[in-house]
Amino acid sequence: MPLREVTGGGGRRVFLGFVVVYLLAFVVVVDGDVHLWPMPASVSRGSRTLYLSSDLALKTDGSKFSDGSGILKDGFERMVELVRESRSVEGQVNGSDNLLAGLHVVVSSSNDSLYYGVDESYKLSIPATGNLIYGYIEASTVYGALHAFETFSQLCDFNLMTRTIELHGAPWNIIDQPRFSYRGLLIDTSRHYQPLSMIKKVIDAMAYSKLNVLHWHIVDRESFPIEIPSYPKLWNGAYSYSERYTVADAKEIVQYAEKRGINVLAEIDVPGHAISWGIGYPSLWPSANCQEPLDVSNELAFKVIDGILSDFSKIFKFKFVHLGGDEVNTSCWATSSHVNKWLDNHRLNESDAYKYFVLRTQSIAAKHGYEPINWEETFNNFGNKLNPKTVVHNWLGGGVAPAVVAAGLRCIVSNQDKWYLDHLDITWQDFYMNEPLKNISKPEQQKLILGGEVCMWGETVDASDIEQTIWPRAAAAAERLWTPLEMLAEDPKQVTTRLARFRCLLDRRGVAAAPLAAPGRGVPLGKGACLRQ
Ligand SMILES: *[C@@H]1O[C@H](CO)[C@@H](O)[C@H](O)[C@H]1NC(C)=O
Ligand SMILES: *[C@@H]1O[C@H](CO)[C@@H](O)[C@H](O)[C@H]1NC(C)=O
Ligand SMILES: *[C@@H]1O[C@H](CO)[C@@H](O)[C@H](O)[C@H]1NC(C)=O
Ligand SMILES: *[C@@H]1O[C@H](CO)[C@@H](O)[C@H](O)[C@H]1NC(C)=O
Ligand SMILES: *[C@@H]1O[C@H](CO)[C@@H](O)[C@H](O)[C@H]1NC(C)=O
Repeated sequence: MPLREVTGGGGRRVFLGFVVVYLLAFVVVVDGDVHLWPMPASVSRGSRTLYLSSDLALKTDGSKFSDGSGILKDGFERMVELVRESRSVEGQVNGSDNLLAGLHVVVSSSNDSLYYGVDESYKLSIPATGNLIYGYIEASTVYGALHAFETFSQLCDFNLMTRTIELHGAPWNIIDQPRFSYRGLLIDTSRHYQPLSMIKKVIDAMAYSKLNVLHWHIVDRESFPIEIPSYPKLWNGAYSYSERYTVADAKEIVQYAEKRGINVLAEIDVPGHAISWGIGYPSLWPSANCQEPLDVSNELAFKVIDGILSDFSKIFKFKFVHLGGDEVNTSCWATSSHVNKWLDNHRLNESDAYKYFVLRTQSIAAKHGYEPINWEETFNNFGNKLNPKTVVHNWLGGGVAPAVVAAGLRCIVSNQDKWYLDHLDITWQDFYMNEPLKNISKPEQQKLILGGEVCMWGETVDASDIEQTIWPRAAAAAERLWTPLEMLAEDPKQVTTRLARFRCLLDRRGVAAAPLAAPGRGVPLGKGACLRQ
């Protein structure tokens, strides 16, 4: 029997219709026996066990969706591989009344573009009986169907006695959709390079936890690993010859992510955080020994930004681009005589020049079709001058998101005291409890919170430890961002067992997810079962 989840307040909403229909025949179980992560918006289950056919079929008749790029078919095949857990399914299923023959998927939109706000909802039902039992998935878009596959995979277990894949708890009726349309994870490939294979593994696990934006903080002051054809000397700022991404590499990452329903948000962090740009183009520095922020008086700075965003627009098709704008210390502008002279000529003080830089960068981004995201200092310093389409990215702490939405701008929440993964002392419980709508009560202001993002800054992570630093804490935030507020646990203890199960599932899928007992990337407490760590 599956482990029982400790339940408390905040009971699950169960479909009354199904309760009535199945009450006599089946035990209708709420939270206690639903092990899905993140918890769907609405779920009911029974108690019958089905066995997956060894050649589980994908049936798509009735779909408007033609799957020209194979997104659905590939997603289905990946899901089947995941539930097999690399094992050999050699058992014999006896009889046909308990055999799950396949999944019938009906997608109502023929459009497979992964635009921001795409409908990710789905319905998944698994009947308990029938002659030829098919699970049924209904979704507006293929991306909803991919979420349904993930949910389905979490209903399945490999039985080592019978060597078959079982699905417990039929009939299932699940209706699901995310609470927020922006559910992000930041990776930073400037402080340490991440190989393509590791970025793909991070994307895989994002799909398992239904996160949908990979914020790729590609470059920073420490290194500039990406190829920019318009300014080919920029990646001279890479750490080494091999620690670089070609344009083709970046396209590959974007395509890999999109096929899994994940958009890639690219960032250039200007005018601070950009020393590495000057390795290839030293005149971007105010001076050789005062190298940051980018020289506001040099037109080349804006030409290079234009070139980068032009090249980005051919790779990163997401409607947003991140333009940074945080931690700008303008003292090099004041102390470099040619910049100082330029400021005087233009009658600008240092803070005016910071604003000028950010706003000019925003208009370059707009020219390339992007809506801008900027870190919160831009809002804190000159919020009323920002492009009205700006999404303000909170990080310094609480209290900013309410001010941003009160000013009518959109916001993404990443307060560092709760959602910075590089802060190893922050526990999964803190990640779980961080509420993006805290202190925001007006519905029209709540709508301006696009969602949130957990941030894996790269100072102490490379390919050797990034996964265990991200997981399972990012998954705790993923449930906060996916599941309806009224269904989230008020006390994280209520979900410990369910998250532990998800953590063990990640491990079985080859993701190095750390034990729950330690805050960030800890080691197991001692000998014992995965679920107890
Ligand atoms: C089917 O029957 C065989 C023989 O009794 C048994 O070994 C096997 O475990 C059964 N399969 C399942 C899935 O129960
Ligand atoms: C898909 O839908 C989006 C959003 O409505 C639209 O911008 C895009 O043009 C559509 N693509 C196709 C191929 O119809
Ligand atoms: C700003 O930069 C200058 C020179 O680079 C440095 O001396 C100063 O401490 C910095 N100020 C802050 C607040 O970091
Ligand atoms: C800079 O100048 C603006 C007017 O252009 C003024 O409002 C602002 O207070 C000045 N800032 C500082 C730090 O002097
Ligand atoms: C909510 O409001 C309280 C009281 O004003 C404040 O201390 C806290 O920082 C706010 N939290 C957030 C996340 O905005």
